[in-house]
Amino acid sequence: MSELITRRSVLAGAGAGAALTTLPLSMVTLAFGGTREDFTFTYISDAHIQQIKGASFVRNWDQGLKRAVAEANLVKPESDFVIFGGDLAQLGKHDELDHGGEILSHLKGKLHAVMGEHDYYLDLGDYWSKLYGPHYYSFDHKGVHFVVLNSILTSEQWTFHRWPTAEQRMLEMAGLDNPNGSPFMVGDKQRKWLANDLAKVDKKTPLVVFSHSPLQKIYKGWNFWTDDAEDVQALLAPFDSVNVIYGHVHQIQYNQIGNISFNSVMATAWPWPYPQTYAQAESHLPVLTIPMNRADPFFERDATGWQLIDIGSGRVTARYQLWDNDQRTVAFDHKAGHPVDTAYQEPTQRRLPQTHY
Ligand SMILES: [Fe+2]
Ligand SMILES: [Fe+2]
Repeated sequence: MSELITRRSVLAGAGAGAALTTLPLSMVTLAFGGTREDFTFTYISDAHIQQIKGASFVRNWDQGLKRAVAEANLVKPESDFVIFGGDLAQLGKHDELDHGGEILSHLKGKLHAVMGEHDYYLDLGDYWSKLYGPHYYSFDHKGVHFVVLNSILTSEQWTFHRWPTAEQRMLEMAGLDNPNGSPFMVGDKQRKWLANDLAKVDKKTPLVVFSHSPLQKIYKGWNFWTDDAEDVQALLAPFDSVNVIYGHVHQIQYNQIGNISFNSVMATAWPWPYPQTYAQAESHLPVLTIPMNRADPFFERDATGWQLIDIGSGRVTARYQLWDNDQRTVAFDHKAGHPVDTAYQEPTQRRLPQTHY
């Protein structure tokens, strides 16, 4: 089946169950040369499970996560593991983390979780740790070294001395464009850990780094930003092949800085527009994105989605599973030396972005 067949056309031609089991056949995994084995993993991010009161949660966000989990379970061949990319909760509440965790518990296969700022700033990741373990860690899988960083830390002054209550601290960091927020960072302690961790890894081993915020500086006004990004990049620079995959931005972005390829992932909750589309905010967005197919206000899942990722060449190919929208694939182009949106890079093939008023 062609990758270009849309979910809508598949759904139109078959029952929903058949569509879900048919879709992953588009993702043909190719064996590649060398000793490494090709494999695929699933990436779900930014569910923002939000409690209204008691056992009542925002339905839309629940449904996005539930649908991603259901589809991920139907992938054939099965992906080796699942990453949840952060912002499981909206305001870091135990009830939200529990409710989101219950939905994630239906996933087949091992889950690795990344810390998001919405999970962290109520109790500084304490309850999240009870569910998912350490805030940063690494593991090896089929010849690839994976690193999970907690990139949403900020200064001690802001974290411990600025706000009278933990609830207010959480609310201040939860706003997208709140000037009372504070730039994210990985921080000295974790960068030292990373240096030690990477010292044991052969420089030819492909690296995949998962962070919540971009480990590059995209737009400070919305915290699409990590303050010590260059210091982290310097630790990754000696390796032949580095891939950073991040959530938080709720939109497709990709970029190349030196040897490091960057790919973002979609949210299951809601889309953010590209910062450059907001005329009231000065934009420092580098030319690294293309206009996203914008949200349809009459379809609550539009411009949201989840991802299948394979690293057959040692570089990431991100296959975006966009609900009721054309699937998109961003793959590393070895000739160009950077990731390319394989279907939409040509300006003549782009859809116009939504106009904001
Ligand atoms: Fe988010
Ligand atoms: Fe976030």
